[in-house]
Amino acid sequence: MRKTTSQSITSQLICTLALLTISITSHAAEQFTEAQAEAAAANYQQYCALCHGADRQGHVNDHAPSLRSKSLLETGYPWAISMAIGYGRAGTPMAPFIDDVGGPLGRQEIRDMTRWLYLEAGVEKIDIDENPIVGDIVAGAEIYSGECAQCHGEQGEGITGTALGNQAMLALTPDAFLRHAIANGRQGTEMQAFAEKLSSADMDNVTAFLRSRATGWDLEKPVYRAPPPPEEYVLNPQGEDPGFKLKDDLYITSAQLDAALQAGKKIVLLDTRALPLWQMANIEGSVPLPYYYDYKNLEALAKDLPRDGTMIVTYCECPRAAAEFVNRKLKEQGFEKLAVLYEGIQGWIALGYPVSAGETIAIEASPIPASSD
Ligand code: HEC
Ligand code: HEC
Repeated sequence: MRKTTSQSITSQLICTLALLTISITSHAAEQFTEAQAEAAAANYQQYCALCHGADRQGHVNDHAPSLRSKSLLETGYPWAISMAIGYGRAGTPMAPFIDDVGGPLGRQEIRDMTRWLYLEAGVEKIDIDENPIVGDIVAGAEIYSGECAQCHGEQGEGITGTALGNQAMLALTPDAFLRHAIANGRQGTEMQAFAEKLSSADMDNVTAFLRSRATGWDLEKPVYRAPPPPEEYVLNPQGEDPGFKLKDDLYITSAQLDAALQAGKKIVLLDTRALPLWQMANIEGSVPLPYYYDYKNLEALAKDLPRDGTMIVTYCECPRAAAEFVNRKLKEQGFEKLAVLYEGIQGWIALGYPVSAGETIAIEASPIPASSD
């Protein structure tokens, strides 16, 4: 298995970035047509608004960051943003969206989305320094636990703030991108501008500390496995109804679901996450029905599901946004016996319940911004 060190991918990205900067400044506006912008805006609503918000404001679900803050767009465009959309941030609710790894969007659509986000934000791209930032890692670690961990997590796992220990994030962003976010904050969010609070040396120290946590990032592509055919949607078709007692008329716990499956109850289990996540690991017997499928066409969404009062349970990563969204869509379609798995699949796994893991193969992440971008 290939290990990409953050160092090598970072230097690769720096070269690409340098090339891009030149071509972007020369071609920028004229290559982006009204039609491309409209398609990107529609894709945004279908695939992203659920978490990042209809107006790109962020923090609507799963603490998905703002996609319109000045500091993100001026330093993240095009590289950090397009790579985040394409390859996701494994272990967080941010799924990979590029078709290379089974996602719903093509490379050009991701470029267009990236461009659209940039233009909507109405900021000027600034060229960030590509050199590593040198700092005192031990001092940085202290600042991190004192000033950052309450939002970003002791281990950088992310709480209300993003996962600063995420290996994909670290591999695909240069030091100066992090340093810029720390100094300037993220406008319109809880992330304050630390230039007002920390010395320049301390901001270098905490940046160096974050970088020191990068251990390398493996990109894995799931080996495609076919979703079950409609005649296999219902688990235990001869079984009885699970008779779930729902919390808040909506939720069941992992323990309830596990007990019902063990006891052979009749259930349809819908995995509402982006498809690559289902391909990689899912709860055995689940049917992938990503929240973005047939978003406008409710009938198509529901056409293969049983209408005989079979219990339909939805779950997602995250813990609940996508699962609740699909639950609502099904309700609008007249389905009545519905429940959402309260803890999501991450909670299910954390509680020690089994998943069916798919095979993956290691692949290289190829740059998404084109040199003609
Ligand atoms: C299920 C919720 C969810 C959906 C849907 C989603 N995202 Fe995200 N996204 C997140 C979360 C959560 C993060 C932060 C992950 C982390 O902690 O690093 C994120 C991070 C990002 C980032 C990195 C931003 C930064 O500050 O570094 C970008 C860019 C992004 N998402 C764009 C998109 C786009 C575009 C779409 C639609 C194609 C999308 N996301 C769909 C939850 C989501
Ligand atoms: C009060 C909570 C809070 C504190 C304290 C905080 N942050 Fe943040 N931070 C956030 C939030 C929320 C975001 C995402 C903002 C957004 O929506 O874009 C963020 C974003 C970031 C980002 C951008 C990550 C990305 O993927 O684009 C970096 C880097 C960062 N914070 C570093 C730090 C550091 C270092 C500290 C301590 C010196 C710190 N933060 C303290 C809440 C916080």
